Amino acid sequence: MSGQRPEFRLVLVVLFAAAISAQTTKPAATTPKETETGFPVTDKATIAKCGGCHRADKDGNLSRISWIRTTPEGWQQAIKRMVRLNGLSVTRNEGRQILRYLATNHGLAPEEAAPVQWYAEMRYLEAEALPNDNVRDACASCHPLARPESWRRSSVEWQELVNMHLGYFPTMEYTSLRRRGGGRRPAVGPAPGANPAEPQRDPVDVALEHFRKAAPLHSKEWAAWRASLRDADLAGTWTVSASLAGKGKLFGTTEITATGPGEFTTKTKLLQVAGGPAQEFMGKVIVYTGYQWRGASKSGTTQVRETMLVSRDQSTIEGRWFWGAYQEFGYQVKMRRMGADVSVAGTDVYAVKSGGASKVRVFGANFPADVKAADIVMGAGVTVKSVSRVSAGELAVEADVAAGAIAGPRDVVVRRVVAPAAFVVYDKVDYIRTATDSQLARLGGNTHPKGYAQFEAIGYHRGPDNKARTADDIALGPVPVRWSVEEFFARQNDDDKDYVGTLNDSGLFTPASEGPNPKRRFSTDNFGDIWVVATFANPGGEPLVAKGYLVVTVPMYVRYDQPEVAE
Ligand code: HEC
Ligand code: HEC
Repeated sequence: MSGQRPEFRLVLVVLFAAAISAQTTKPAATTPKETETGFPVTDKATIAKCGGCHRADKDGNLSRISWIRTTPEGWQQAIKRMVRLNGLSVTRNEGRQILRYLATNHGLAPEEAAPVQWYAEMRYLEAEALPNDNVRDACASCHPLARPESWRRSSVEWQELVNMHLGYFPTMEYTSLRRRGGGRRPAVGPAPGANPAEPQRDPVDVALEHFRKAAPLHSKEWAAWRASLRDADLAGTWTVSASLAGKGKLFGTTEITATGPGEFTTKTKLLQVAGGPAQEFMGKVIVYTGYQWRGASKSGTTQVRETMLVSRDQSTIEGRWFWGAYQEFGYQVKMRRMGADVSVAGTDVYAVKSGGASKVRVFGANFPADVKAADIVMGAGVTVKSVSRVSAGELAVEADVAAGAIAGPRDVVVRRVVAPAAFVVYDKVDYIRTATDSQLARLGGNTHPKGYAQFEAIGYHRGPDNKARTADDIALGPVPVRWSVEEFFARQNDDDKDYVGTLNDSGLFTPASEGPNPKRRFSTDNFGDIWVVATFANPGGEPLVAKGYLVVTVPMYVRYDQPEVAE
């Protein structure tokens, strides 16, 4: 079995010993007795492979495993660690089967998975919502909080998770878990934002209390989902609408073929509305827990991974198809099951200006050959003048948008079938912003792959309150801009913008190589931070400008486990 490193076990014994001795005030590191009801393990392969160390009780509960639920990525990570550090030996097929069984039967309900789906989708999130500073200190300093938030555990198991960390990373006792100004952490005063009236508690205790309450083993969502659990039946044709930062919208179809229970192959054809040849993806998918789509597909030389959620009625599938050394590129994808009836996926445009004629392409399926202007409704102030059927999947609509039409989203209706908020109507672009305030790129090219950053500028309308930059403003989608860079003054004369890399006309930043660079002061690397500036020509008004902050940093030298659960 590959990946097993016997010397690790020796190290572990030492680590555990260190952890136990560092924990003299804590209970012993043996598993305390569970008081909660476990989820029995009934799968033969799982019992055979895991049951030797995780002993079954009289009800068929395997120790620890029966009191834990998590995502496919979570289970895979745990199983890989069993192989890497604890001496588990499994073939690829056994591992696959056990993962399928556990992720499905000891998984998360859709409502539990949705808030942390961004983590499984490998998105870059600028700022995670954290319950409080103590939880951040204890549990979000090494990995995102989404990692623990992807798990559900019994009260005992939350403590065991802390013990596992202490066993493997004893120093976290000092760096993360104990309170500042007390315990064994250096005295640097109470945590920022701590209530001085409250007795100080260790961050780890606050975190444990939080997770025991927020992520318990038993939930009504899981009870309900588990009762109705079945294999997803997705075979057939689906319409696809997608968008890709820097490229805009794409439409097409996916043919899904069943190859086994919860297993499929896919064939996807996507056309970019901006033009260019069709892209074809051939892929394979496993659907865990009845709704967790994990696929891998290929278009030309681009290998993408697909992480999506299947809706409960199995009529839509939504998520991200991503690639890149840091998963920095990704399509936002929505698929709709195609029946015999008309279906409407969306329009080519994000926004339509009021006070004139507009051409709108409508994408979907089964558009009737005899479609008439009267079959199409586009909402207040938008009069459909004519329609022609380009194909069963595309209509070309000409519409007049009244001057003074209310700004805001419009549904597109084709023969009573509605695509909600398919585009917005506006009178002028009031300001623009970069799609994210900040981005991260990573140097590479010599010994490490480059980590790119794609910028996009989004137009905004001031909204009903007539005031720009307030909560009711209306996003108008990407607008065409001229891209440039400016120095971000951090250190004197560092001239970062001359070294960090290049930004092209479509907002794609390509980082420079790792360095060291003899041309730079002190021969430093090419790292740095800069402003990325978007300038929108704004027909009929002053040019509009927005800035995004870009940090160009060193490669990620240590790559923790990268779960890959699509095959
Ligand atoms: C050779 C013994 C051994 C085998 C076989 C084994 N485990 Fe473990 N398992 C351990 C040990 C030791 C721990 C505690 C240390 C740790 O968490 O790594 C553990 C802990 C765990 C945990 C708790 C981790 C956490 O997040 O707190 C899970 C989950 C788990 N094992 C799953 C499995 C599964 C699933 C299998 C079968 C595919 C398996 N184990 C097989 C020894 C084993
Ligand atoms: C010192 C850095 C560090 C801190 C602090 C930390 N973690 Fe982790 N955590 C890790 C690493 C590294 C792993 C991966 C371990 C492995 O699989 O080898 C991990 C894995 C996990 C996992 C996956 C468990 C499994 O069985 O694979 C969960 C859940 C988790 N951490 C939750 C937490 C919680 C809750 C806290 C706060 C009490 C916390 N972490 C604090 C570094 C940290």
